[in-house]
Amino acid sequence: MQPAIHACTEADCEAILSVINDAARAYAGVIPEDCWHDPYMTLRELRSELDRHVVFHGTRQGEALVAVAGIQDKSEVALVRHAYVATAAQRKGCGSALLAHLERTLPDKPLLVGTWADARWAIAFYRKAGYTLLPTARKNALLKTYWTIPQRQIDTSVVLAKRLPASGWPARHWGIT
Ligand SMILES: CC(C)(COP(=O)(O)OP(=O)(O)OC[C@H]1O[C@@H](n2cnc3c(N)ncnc32)[C@H](O)[C@@H]1OP(=O)(O)O)[C@@H](O)C(=O)NCCC(=O)NCCS
Repeated sequence: MQPAIHACTEADCEAILSVINDAARAYAGVIPEDCWHDPYMTLRELRSELDRHVVFHGTRQGEALVAVAGIQDKSEVALVRHAYVATAAQRKGCGSALLAHLERTLPDKPLLVGTWADARWAIAFYRKAGYTLLPTARKNALLKTYWTIPQRQIDTSVVLAKRLPASGWPARHWGIT
């Protein structure tokens, strides 16, 4: 049976943080030391993301939330944000099912996702789901245009994309001229 995926509510905030801060332990010792902190996300940071209209969806096993991911509508594109599967539930298809569900919520938009360049598993995960790794100059421009993150994170991240317009990316439209 497929696990139930649902939109998260305010009542899920603590559970969302538990999943994120458990799964993000994968970054320890892998991403640059100055980018790693524990907890990886605080309630204040989560609320700030919710205020920026990141809509989280989650997967439950029984009562427990085991996977979360957000989608942020940025008008001409949609950003996949904060995809995390609890460590014990990883590599069982949960992340893929949740990602596919999120993608269906905004079916007509190009999709962008940013992740740490050193998180090879995350890059493999998105590639398997049909995302393409973008060249450095383009990812820098896109991270500046659509994300609110420090320069250090821009320098140490990659961007992958899916559903690119068939005619290529008109730089003027994407704010990357
Ligand atoms: C990345 C993550 C969300 C993937 O979720 P998941 O449920 O574990 O992934 P799935 O089981 O759906 O895996 C789908 C495919 O992704 C790739 N993949 C997933 N985890 C991988 C790993 N640790 N190493 C290599 N490839 C991996 C594989 O190709 C896998 O297919 P396969 O199992 O048939 O080989 C999850 O592992 C996670 O939360 N990781 C820690 C935090 C993180 O990196 N989040 C990404 C933030 S952008």
